[in-house]
Amino acid sequence: SRNGIDFAVADLGLAEFGRKEIRLAEHEMPGLMELRREYAEARPLHGARIAGSLHMTVQTAVLIETLVSLGAQVRWVSCNIFSTQDHAAAATVVGPHGTPEEPKGVPVFAWKGETLQEYWWCTEQLFTFTDENGNTVGPNMILDDGGDATLLVHKGVEFETNGAVPTVDDDDLSVSEEYRIILELLRRSLAEDPKRWTRIAAGIRGVTEETTTGVHRLYQLAEQGKLLFPAINVNDSVTKSKFDNKYGIRHSLIDGLNRATDVLIGGKVAVVCGYGDVGKGSAEALAGQGARVIVTEADPICALQALLEGYQVARLDDVVGQADIVITATGNKDIVTVDHMKRMKHQAILGNVGHFDNEIDMAGLARVPGIRKINIKPQVDEWIFPDGHSILVLSEGRLMNLGNATGHPSFVMSNSFANQTIAQIELFTKHEEYNNDVYRLPKILDEKVARIHVQALGGELTKLTKEQAEYIGVDVEGPFKPEHYRY
Ligand code: NAI
Repeated sequence: SRNGIDFAVADLGLAEFGRKEIRLAEHEMPGLMELRREYAEARPLHGARIAGSLHMTVQTAVLIETLVSLGAQVRWVSCNIFSTQDHAAAATVVGPHGTPEEPKGVPVFAWKGETLQEYWWCTEQLFTFTDENGNTVGPNMILDDGGDATLLVHKGVEFETNGAVPTVDDDDLSVSEEYRIILELLRRSLAEDPKRWTRIAAGIRGVTEETTTGVHRLYQLAEQGKLLFPAINVNDSVTKSKFDNKYGIRHSLIDGLNRATDVLIGGKVAVVCGYGDVGKGSAEALAGQGARVIVTEADPICALQALLEGYQVARLDDVVGQADIVITATGNKDIVTVDHMKRMKHQAILGNVGHFDNEIDMAGLARVPGIRKINIKPQVDEWIFPDGHSILVLSEGRLMNLGNATGHPSFVMSNSFANQTIAQIELFTKHEEYNNDVYRLPKILDEKVARIHVQALGGELTKLTKEQAEYIGVDVEGPFKPEHYRY
């Protein structure tokens, strides 16, 4: 704690560099800057205490400072152990008007290369705001990416309701190290304050969720009737998933590959597992570099799309031995097994861009008898099998576009984060109008976000005449498409 701000970052001395990059990013994030201008006087987030769990990058710093300029109090953590940019974290703590000696920004708990234990300690720090009287209070909003902050609250409430945290067998391999850490955290919390999470949950007006995987978790909770507060699915704003997931990864996937390995991508065989929005951007980026791309898919519609783009569609089992690069982008588990890894070429590269690390069986890899791991540099490991051949695993199987590079660029994140900001305003100011269910933003707001970015890129929109609008059954000002339109 310094100058009344508690924080845990790598080095506040990096703040000046962070601030320079934030300044450049602001120009590339017209959506956020427009919202700052629009709401400068109204400050609709005044009174909001936002607990944010989303990759602590330069772009996120611009989001955080937008929320603050709209009146919110904010606490922040990264949603991945490798995704923090330490200079961005430092600059966010220091704030635009502070110094490392006298920070005036936001409490951030994030650094690149956290242990899982540290990650969950950080996440717990999200829930300790201080009110005007110096009392510790919970947040009243969550801004989540992948759903870990939301998960902690829901698990906390579940165990408090049951009056106990389940015990798990020490050598039960089906329970991950991470889940054990969560159980331990909540066991301690339950012993100290048996109603802590129940109180916190009661104070939360809603959550806005950034990514496919987090949204999936929310719909599951809602279906089981277990969702404790309303949620806005930001991912499925068109200006989010059809841009960030696709064009963002098209930029940051090969950035990660290049920074990690610098291998020539042209001419190589690259397998992309999953051809949803992220898979589409991944395949395009690899093909753009001249790789021969093979796609694996379960969904025939996505498989057909891949085929018509000119990619081979095959099963990983059948092609894993040909691959120079394997990228997982499914949001599903158990995609690349130990058996697959054993069959990969010498020095084949394996990376994941799906939200969680369970796409690749890293725990199983570590258990292969006689396996050795050589760390080449941070977030790049060579795993050598007993037969002498090796594979290169990026970011220990976690989001390699953030672990090995710096994630998506500012302009695309401006779209995502404009949706986030609008969703926060919506739930914070109108929470009584929402049930404990999952909602999407109205299309007119999606179009608003797009319009700002079209203008920033110098695009000129055609204005429909009244007659034309009537003829196709829309309003001159939009929305221009029915709800079922898929883009
Ligand atoms: P999506 O649902 O559009 O696509 C996933 C695809 O994987 C689906 O088409 C599905 O049929 C396919 N799939 C599922 N199981 C499979 C299997 N066993 N084998 C082959 N294909 C399989 O989801 P989206 O938006 O593409 O997101 C994918 C993951 O990436 C999610 O975890 C999401 O949270 C994450 N994400 C990561 C980003 C990053 O910066 N790295 C950015 C945005 C999302």
